[in-house]
Amino acid sequence: MASGDTAAPRVLLMVTGGIAAYKSCFLARLLQQAGFSVRAAMTPAATRFVGPVTLQALTGAPVATDLWGEGQSEPLDHIEYARWADIAVVAPATADILAKAACGIADDIVSTLLVAFEGELVVAPAMNDAMWRHPATRANCEVLRERGATLVGPGEGWLACGTTAPGRMSEPEEILQAVRKVAAGLPVREVEFPAPVPSPWSGRRVVITAGPTHEPIDPVRYIANRSSGHMGYALAAAAVQRGARVTLISGPTALPSPRGLAGFIPVTTAQEMAAAVADALAGGAEWLVMAAAVADFAPAERAAGKLKKEDLGTGWSLQMTRNPDILGEVVPAAAPVGLKVVGFALETSDVEERALAKLRAKNMDFIVANDPTAAGAGFGDVEHTVVLMGPEGVLWRSDPAAKPALAAALLDRLAAVPGASA
Ligand code: C5P
Repeated sequence: MASGDTAAPRVLLMVTGGIAAYKSCFLARLLQQAGFSVRAAMTPAATRFVGPVTLQALTGAPVATDLWGEGQSEPLDHIEYARWADIAVVAPATADILAKAACGIADDIVSTLLVAFEGELVVAPAMNDAMWRHPATRANCEVLRERGATLVGPGEGWLACGTTAPGRMSEPEEILQAVRKVAAGLPVREVEFPAPVPSPWSGRRVVITAGPTHEPIDPVRYIANRSSGHMGYALAAAAVQRGARVTLISGPTALPSPRGLAGFIPVTTAQEMAAAVADALAGGAEWLVMAAAVADFAPAERAAGKLKKEDLGTGWSLQMTRNPDILGEVVPAAAPVGLKVVGFALETSDVEERALAKLRAKNMDFIVANDPTAAGAGFGDVEHTVVLMGPEGVLWRSDPAAKPALAAALLDRLAAVPGASA
């Protein structure tokens, strides 16, 4: 195994020869920021667009560029990269590599790695619009899709050949979202969860929300909050580890999806999160854990085009409108009989009193009260402190702890409440 590996899903980024190759450098960075382990391979044509040194510097590992090891910066057993990866991402994918992948041709480093690769495949085609329309290209895409590959794009836009047409590689953020969805379906890797913890959570159907919501003002601006998603993701991972069937509904975060989820539903706005929660509950659930920091308000109007500061003068006002209260309004209508509801209350004063009032107002079974501004607490990947409360008051006050440990302790405390795990 390459040095510096983590238990994060491993992505082999394969770059083929198109002008969009430069965007793959951003994609490599985004994948890393999202917590994936990344290695890269490039066709000889790709190296004419982007230097392998760039991807080597970004990934911190040798880039596979040649079947025979010629010109490699370091000796490399290239097939090892195919064995190493959980997910292969071909971006940009030219008409040529689509054809080779569909037929199993192995005549350069990328096509060879693709034939040797047995994991999940994500493909982001990019080419001239006539090449994209060609029946052979369409048929090749269909073959790959039928074999289980995820195709992302192409989008419509300005192409290097000077036209505006379908064929442009999807933006790196969109490809990242596709990779995260695929990662959510990967089986739990031994190294991450050495042994499932025997637990009353085993087999329970649990819906967890996490992260912030983004409420768009215009196509480029939004209103959000400082939620990082760490707590919700840690709860999802801990619940999976305890054998639960977890659906994670996540607002935009930079975190890799925990492995072993029964479902991962990325959403952006509170409205989308409300709809996803209603759908997930309709599919059957025994627990709902609302760890998401749902925006209470959204801009009343979403401008179709970017608002221009020249048009807004020296100051302007934004009209806001209430978002649905998911726990207060959506859950009562959608909850299956016996659903246990755990909410979160983020308060900066009178924390426990306010949390208890919220639990009663929104008819929750439990609430996790926390103050991110207190000593030993905070947003992001930091130690945190929580208070678990039931309708009668405080059940448990935690010490400051890392969020994964805190999430595990919370689930174990919840399961230990008499009647809660039944
Ligand atoms: O009232 P407050 O937003 O502090 O309530 C916190 C709890 O309510 C959290 O569990 C949060 O996920 C949930 N919530 C919700 N819908 C909203 C706002 C918050 O379900 N619109």
